[in-house]
Amino acid sequence: MSDSFEPVIIGFTCNWCSYRAADHAGMTRTQYPPNARLIRLMCSGRLDPTFVLKALADGADGVLIAGCHPGECHYLEQNYKALRRHRLLQRTLAQFGIEPERVRLAWASAAEGVKFAAEISEMVEEVRKLGPLNWPARPRPLATVPADIPVLSEVAA
Ligand code: FES
Repeated sequence: MSDSFEPVIIGFTCNWCSYRAADHAGMTRTQYPPNARLIRLMCSGRLDPTFVLKALADGADGVLIAGCHPGECHYLEQNYKALRRHRLLQRTLAQFGIEPERVRLAWASAAEGVKFAAEISEMVEEVRKLGPLNWPARPRPLATVPADIPVLSEVAA
């Protein structure tokens, strides 16, 4: 892949920990690549999987989902929802022939600016190696579609 490719990463961060970790990284002048555009949610549990799919379909090359560490969510156990949705998204994307590594889950407390910066840096490098997603133009590989999945008309009947 060309060295000039700069991936666009959308980062969904929770208000109480990971967004503040990004703030902390800024306050401590911790460097990380400028490829990430952060969107603040009140909690990672608020993340609807369609947000991720829309981000990828609209031009993002990768999506970071970041929340409080397990057991530290300010809304009790909502980040476990984010964990389950992340697994679901990775499986779903694989069915579309999209590398599951394009969606990453990270935990960061408000004091972990350095960790947050490292997560962004690692993800940018990983997605840079994968190359541009360009999802709408990407052909769906037939080999990944299981033959036993019923067509929509059979399900609706
Ligand atoms: S408040 Fe941070 S993950 Fe729930």
